[in-house]
Amino acid sequence: MTLRSVIMGTGSALPRRCVSNDELAQTVDTSDAWIVERTGIRQRYIAGEGETTTTLAVEASRHALEAAGVAPDEVDLIVLATATPDQTFPASATIVQAQLGIPDCVAFDVGAVCSGFLYALTVADNMLRGGAARTALVIGAETFSRILDWEDRATCVLFGDGAGAVVLRAQETDAQAGRGILASKLHADGRYNALLNVDGGPSTTGTVGKVRMKGQDVFRHAVVNLAEVLREVLASAGVAAGEIDWVVPHQANARILDATARKLKLDPAKVVMTVDRHANTSAASVPLALDVAVRDGRIRKGDLVVLEAMGGGFTWGASLLRY
Ligand code: ACO
Repeated sequence: MTLRSVIMGTGSALPRRCVSNDELAQTVDTSDAWIVERTGIRQRYIAGEGETTTTLAVEASRHALEAAGVAPDEVDLIVLATATPDQTFPASATIVQAQLGIPDCVAFDVGAVCSGFLYALTVADNMLRGGAARTALVIGAETFSRILDWEDRATCVLFGDGAGAVVLRAQETDAQAGRGILASKLHADGRYNALLNVDGGPSTTGTVGKVRMKGQDVFRHAVVNLAEVLREVLASAGVAAGEIDWVVPHQANARILDATARKLKLDPAKVVMTVDRHANTSAASVPLALDVAVRDGRIRKGDLVVLEAMGGGFTWGASLLRY
């Protein structure tokens, strides 16, 4: 037997308002045809009045706790990944704690942009296996619409808002066939800041800033880094690519997903794709896609699932788990 962090339940939340490419093209110089051809995105959800990163995070967490059959007072760790917190401080995780009525626990945010959920999951997994906590709520939640430059058509069409959450619990499981997180790998290379960033912040401009991106450069790095980290995480667990039941990638662009799957000779039918409906929701995209595939019955208990993401920094990572 071995101690592993097992996903007990998943949940997600989206803002009320869905914006199609055609609707966006009424205010941005773009077209449905351009966006679909270059990215695979057909629509995105945009937060409206009263909807924030933490309102979405709370709703996603409620669904995850319900699916897990876990009461809020059983949670003793909250790790929330976001680049768009409600406030500069306190951590959004503490706002979620208060809203859910979770008593004294450990609660903090993790910032790794689009890789944030992989970072949060890995930190929580290590804390659970190290004995710092028993039951964790791991959340990815974003309102990127609030840091987009709506005059920049090369970026504003790519992103959407949303949240996803999982309940993780430390459990003794069978070392061979047991459920839980089997291996994780994280990376960062801060030399690439200029290719994808936000041009403001409390300590520099004193403003929130807007997303800036050199899309083609990001695309090239994403395909190489994601294929490498997938190989790395599979090798560390001694699992062959052909044994994977499902790949749940960060949903940035359908072409990145296709190119990465091709590089690893993965069956495209095993790649969960939600970018068409949600666009790129940054740290929320992996747990949102995971929740979709769990709830529609594709991902089942015992399946071998690999999660991967890359984002600003650059940061990137992957986790292999038996669901
Ligand atoms: N609608 C219409 N035309 C547009 C739009 C738009 N929304 N945006 C750009 N264009 C135009 C450009 O102005 C340019 O016109 P020009 O040739 O007259 O100068 C033309 O389209 C081509 O622009 P490119 O930037 O070269 O287009 P490209 O084929 O590279 O596609 C894209 C751009 C979709 C951003 C692509 O580079 C990409 O997907 N990169 C990955 C970036 C990404 O997904 N980042 C997310 C965060 S990081 C991550 O999550 C991995």
